Amino acid sequence: MKKARIVGTGSYVPEKVLTNHDLEKFLDTSDEWITSRTGIRERHVAAEGENTSDLATEAARRAMDMAGIGAEEIDLILVGTITGDFPWPATACLVQDNLGACNAAAFDISAACSGFVFALDAGVNYIKAGAAQNVLVIGAEILTRVVDWEDRNTCVLFGDGAGAVVLQGQEGESGVLSTHLHSDGSYWELLYQAGFGTRIQPTEQGIKDRIPYLKMQGNEVFKMAVRSLSDVAVEALETNGFVSSDIDMFIPHQANRRILEATAKRLKLKDEQVYINVDRFGNTSGASIPLALDEANRAGKIAEGDLLLFDAFGGGFTWASALVRW
Ligand code: COA
Repeated sequence: MKKARIVGTGSYVPEKVLTNHDLEKFLDTSDEWITSRTGIRERHVAAEGENTSDLATEAARRAMDMAGIGAEEIDLILVGTITGDFPWPATACLVQDNLGACNAAAFDISAACSGFVFALDAGVNYIKAGAAQNVLVIGAEILTRVVDWEDRNTCVLFGDGAGAVVLQGQEGESGVLSTHLHSDGSYWELLYQAGFGTRIQPTEQGIKDRIPYLKMQGNEVFKMAVRSLSDVAVEALETNGFVSSDIDMFIPHQANRRILEATAKRLKLKDEQVYINVDRFGNTSGASIPLALDEANRAGKIAEGDLLLFDAFGGGFTWASALVRW
């Protein structure tokens, strides 16, 4: 059976950088508090008029360039996002239009910060089933438009960006070895954005009461994140007969440094095995893993044959892993 191999990576972040010191100017916070609690120093923020589909399209173009693949060769476009341009149509359809990928089906996957790994799983399974040969998998978000900029508990954590991979069906050892996905909807209220879905209608009072914006119970999310990220990583290793020391690069969802360090400790990973860039991008939700992957790949930090483990956790709750032989 063909494996789904990652043959190109790409990423894009908006130009504008918002540092912790910038936040100090309009929020009761400090660089010291944010850095010590989260490891985040700065994040990128989309410019007015710049939309999630724009970020996704640029990341996709870069991944396709690396893969040497034309738009008409793409069979499927999957975008993991919770901050699409519109409730509908899917951001994937807007990306398809931008790219001129006229032969591709396109749809979004909503699994919050696990969105990229959920989308990757779908792409892998289309390829394994013989239903697609070239799949564009993208994680793209503009979280800075849905956070409450009056809530210091949450707004300091997030940033904007996009990452993409081209998956291609190939024979051989390299490719995605396994994916594991989990969801537990009973925790939805610990991390969610209320508006504007069908439950909440836009009203002036609602906006005054800050109802539509992202809500999070940070402490509870923290504990569940560490446990779930560890469990699903162990599940991936055990399924494939590996131990954590076999991993060349662990690329977790970049939620915050303390979550990543606690997870790495539970998994007995050494610092040099763990890729961290949350300090420069904040939590970019579904974009964080492909953004980190592309950064590591372009820096020449990944070699053929390396074993990579992607590990994600997010609202829903959702959590997921993907083990990849490069
Ligand atoms: N600047 C300054 N003070 C802040 C602040 C900020 N940006 N945000 C919160 N505080 C204050 C709180 O108001 C609280 O003050 P109080 O004791 O006077 O009420 C104090 O800091 C401690 O808050 P607490 O929530 O206990 O801090 P914490 O050490 O748990 O850290 C998070 C908060 C959000 C960093 C932490 O809970 C976390 O990382 N959670 C997971 C978040 C996440 O990654 N979510 C996405 C998962 S995909």
